[in-house]
Amino acid sequence: MIILGIETSCDETGIALYDRKNKKIIFEALYSQADQHSLYGGVVPELAARDHVNRLLPLLKRKISSNKFKLKDIDAIAYTKGPGLRGPLMVGTAFSKALAFSLDIPTFPIHHMEAHLIMAKFDAPKLTYPFISLLVSGGHSLLAKVKSPGNYQIIGESIDDAVGEAFDKTAKLLGLKYPGGPEIERVSKQGNLTQLIFPRPMLKSKNLNFSFSGLKTAVLYEVRRQQEADSLDQQKVADIALAFQDAAIECLVEKSIKAMYQEECNQLVLSGGVAANLSLRNSFKNKLTESQSIFYPDMSHCTDNGVMIAFAGAEKLHFQNEGHKIEVNPRWSLEALNER
Ligand code: KG4
Ligand code: ZN
Repeated sequence: MIILGIETSCDETGIALYDRKNKKIIFEALYSQADQHSLYGGVVPELAARDHVNRLLPLLKRKISSNKFKLKDIDAIAYTKGPGLRGPLMVGTAFSKALAFSLDIPTFPIHHMEAHLIMAKFDAPKLTYPFISLLVSGGHSLLAKVKSPGNYQIIGESIDDAVGEAFDKTAKLLGLKYPGGPEIERVSKQGNLTQLIFPRPMLKSKNLNFSFSGLKTAVLYEVRRQQEADSLDQQKVADIALAFQDAAIECLVEKSIKAMYQEECNQLVLSGGVAANLSLRNSFKNKLTESQSIFYPDMSHCTDNGVMIAFAGAEKLHFQNEGHKIEVNPRWSLEALNER
């Protein structure tokens, strides 16, 4: 079965063609709108939706012709139904349904976060159930126990901002580009861990929840303090970025390890955009014991992409073919999938 994956939940237009039988990506293409949104310091949903409209067809046309593939070779279309931004989701959904209608093939609605989570399995077939998943993106920060395919229990989550959002807001405060995560990671390499130590909200709380808004506020006060003293130079920006990253990572690592002990699970899966952060990966590697293992997707498949949607479709992580109804689910809990 050849599955076309369509991802448009936020500001990346992602497409991919995946051969389920041979477990092979036939092609993948990604168009990032980051530069456009960078002007506004974050994603503007209306602009994102409009740009998906402009990008989807040319992206698919180019890939199909350069790979000598015909549209009629596609057996099914997997598309992101949610969670995400309503307008962008509607574009991908309408595009997928229209194309499927013209080809007379089924569509598979995919849960964006489930697709992120399952991508670790793409690169690590050895990964077995159950495992703990740390899902960290621009919209989510959660810890889930994955008991079997499609069976999720959320055991911890952020009570306020998602960690990716905190990276993005901190970068904005420091005058860095959007998306902020890669920028914070880049500039923090020049930083020194000086006396500046930011709070680790909820680090010692008994539960597995996170909180990142206090950390972001602490950065805001520090930035203001430096601005008032006229000392927010390049080195200070790097020091603040590093101190922020250090605090955020410690919260994620400590709570994930706590979850592994609490649930008696030796495998941890790291996914979502923030999983691309090398300091986070290294921090886990340093903290995990020999009997514990960590899995994460290839760097190129951590942030939003079409492959994860096509792969989730191939793993049959979808609801019944919904026919031609165009319906999205911008706020869709991972646990709602257990009712399938
Ligand atoms: O999964 P994703 O591409 O989109 C959502 O589903 O939200 O995640 C995007 C988030 C952004 O907040 C971005 O700043 C963050 O992931 N991110 C990173 C890194 N690369 C992307 N955060 C920290 N370090 C990175 N290297
Ligand atoms: Zn995502």
